[in-house]
Amino acid sequence: MSSLAQLDGRHIVLGVTGSIAAYKAASLVRLYKKAGAEVRVLMTKSAEQFIPALTLGTLADHTVHSEIFPEHDSDSWTAHVSLGLWADLFVIAPATAQTVAKLAHGFSDNMLTATALSARCPILVCPAMDLDMYQHPATQANFERLRSFGYEVMPADYGALASGLEGQGRLPEPEAIAARTAARISEVDSEVDSEVNADTSAQSALSREEGDGAPSGTTGPFYGKHVLVTAGPTEEPIDPVRMLTNPSTGTMGFALAEAVAAQGATVTLVSGPTHLDTPSGVTRVDVRTAAAMNEAVQARRNTADVVFMAAAVADYTPAHPSDSKKKKTEGTQTLTLKRTPDILKTLGEHKRDGQVLVGFALETDDARANAQDKRTRKNLDWIVLNKATDPGSGFGTGTNACTLFGPNGYESQIATAPKRDVAVSIVAQVARHTPALQPAPTS
Ligand code: CTP
Repeated sequence: MSSLAQLDGRHIVLGVTGSIAAYKAASLVRLYKKAGAEVRVLMTKSAEQFIPALTLGTLADHTVHSEIFPEHDSDSWTAHVSLGLWADLFVIAPATAQTVAKLAHGFSDNMLTATALSARCPILVCPAMDLDMYQHPATQANFERLRSFGYEVMPADYGALASGLEGQGRLPEPEAIAARTAARISEVDSEVDSEVNADTSAQSALSREEGDGAPSGTTGPFYGKHVLVTAGPTEEPIDPVRMLTNPSTGTMGFALAEAVAAQGATVTLVSGPTHLDTPSGVTRVDVRTAAAMNEAVQARRNTADVVFMAAAVADYTPAHPSDSKKKKTEGTQTLTLKRTPDILKTLGEHKRDGQVLVGFALETDDARANAQDKRTRKNLDWIVLNKATDPGSGFGTGTNACTLFGPNGYESQIATAPKRDVAVSIVAQVARHTPALQPAPTS
């Protein structure tokens, strides 16, 4: 389970640094408190230029710290150590380029950075900065370094920035950060559980009965929405021991299912054969062939509000599969293939008002034109383009880089990042540009 209910009774240290987005920390503290968490706030001196410590301290119901050495009579100079031990999760939001750089290089010149060095809990870093600072190789290398320490770096959102420029660099909305906090705590809990009980991972690999999966977030732009995600390859049997398939592992689709569940959706994941564990709170339906995937998807098209069609569906299947093993003969063999149903095209033909369809295109040549053509031809709202020739992209890699094409000429690049981060970014952008999915403002 990874709903905000997961935060009840948990200890969260929130680090706030000097970004214009620091004001969003107030909503974040409220969301944590409302969900029953205990919160301690650490601020850098420059964060106090943007939001008073008194505001965050009042909302957290606890004194805010910024210096390592005692600021209050009741404080000990070892507070950075005790807070690091007390926390279930340390969230840094917003994290400026400066603080990201300090964290990446082990600085401990203020309460926030010293606590990060002492912390035994997982750390979630939510950067906010101008787009060029965000894209700078130094910052990107610092993100990578943080990831190599086991920190999670939540990709910044796209949109208007305080500088007047537009691009990636906005702090994700407090609802999205709170949902990710809860999901991270839930993941840590299950990691601990699986250490205690080795059976857990085997059990989580079992398919869930449909209807068993509850929405995993109780807030977030997808709350109350049914999202259908497809993932993995299909297998098209030639005979009982041979088949046509492709190298898809399902990683991208599973990451999307996880990301959208963390945003409050009720998720059905229709998966081809993979070795992946089902993300928590997600209902999984296993299929083998393109025809079976088509059946599973079309049966749900009337209830799905959003469909992410990430599966690598075979375009052709043997026209005459054999029930018994074909014996080899001398000379060449000819295999007659027939087309499989185009699942996404059928969804496009039956698209309901307000339903959002997201397709994927893996291309080698004329990539942009082909992807845009697919978006139009299949009546899609969004298409995610992967270039099979890009290193760090496509089948069998842990990372991905893509271009997202959306309504009204929307286009954005997602730089090479772990597939999980790319999924979070795709989901955030779809939510931001779909009126029905935008989060209600927090008062
Ligand atoms: N897709 C589908 N059903 C199929 C084949 C593909 O639903 N039988 C979906 C994929 O899941 C993906 C999108 O369609 O979201 C694009 O798939 P792709 O095979 O690249 O596109 P095609 O339209 O089949 O074009 P082509 O193979 O000619 O590139």
